[in-house]
Amino acid sequence: MTSQLINGVELSNQLRQALQTRVQALTKEGHTPGLAVILVGENPASQVYVRNKVKACDQVGIHSVLEKTPDTLTEKELLAKIEALNKDPLVHGILVQLPLPPHIDAQRVIEAISPQKDVDGFHISSAGALMTGAQGFWPCTPFGCMKMLESIHYDLKGKHAVVIGRSNIVGKPMAMMLLQKNATVTLCHSHTKNLADLTRQADLIVAAVGIRNVLTKDMVKPGAVVLDVGMNRDEEGKLCGDVDFNGVSQVAAFITPVPGGVGPMTITMLLHNTVWAAEQLNSTVERPLQSN
Ligand code: GUN
Repeated sequence: MTSQLINGVELSNQLRQALQTRVQALTKEGHTPGLAVILVGENPASQVYVRNKVKACDQVGIHSVLEKTPDTLTEKELLAKIEALNKDPLVHGILVQLPLPPHIDAQRVIEAISPQKDVDGFHISSAGALMTGAQGFWPCTPFGCMKMLESIHYDLKGKHAVVIGRSNIVGKPMAMMLLQKNATVTLCHSHTKNLADLTRQADLIVAAVGIRNVLTKDMVKPGAVVLDVGMNRDEEGKLCGDVDFNGVSQVAAFITPVPGGVGPMTITMLLHNTVWAAEQLNSTVERPLQSN
């Protein structure tokens, strides 16, 4: 079997077009969605990520403000910036790029963001909403994965989904979203015994651990769907995921490439969450019930 690709660039373009229309409607009412991005320090990967986020905002007409600060910024100063953004009516979404320098408590910073502006979906109230099935912001990467499954009309009901990785950003919320769509979910991590025995039973595998080749051909049931959230570098410095793409694409029915798979979807869902946040705050514009 040779897999069909789930193209994150194409799907992103379609979704961004639809978002642009919603942004135009909001702008007409004088409520252009606004996203504030804070970058502390000079982590090279983070610099690329925030640049791409700001560029994507421009593409759909979202107003973005990028605040770059030196890594000498104190936690107190960062909390004061967030407090000001919480009160700013032109800002509908606040994103603090992670990781933060070690002298800053990331969780404290995340909790300082107004839950109404938590477009990353990392606030404890967003996590609680997802856990209980209430309306709220979904974290962008697993949300993007759900959109990719939707794009191939994949019915999760009764399927066995194996998620590799239990981070708060991807693995745990991914498991919750799949569960909400009635999949049977196995959440694997560094202490999981016999990972291959579990993945071989899976109809769907989401690899999100940041380890190159964590999933190989022999670990995948023919016809399974494989989503690769990994962002690693091979020995030549080329971007690659967590999945051995050449091998796994011979057995999976669908697979996401790296680059051009989940990555662009993460940014698209950030745009989605920002537009939704603006819609929630502006009652004159039609308000969709759910973010997802
Ligand atoms: N660092 C890596 N991924 C993310 C993300 O999705 N949001 C934020 N804020 N920081 C990140």
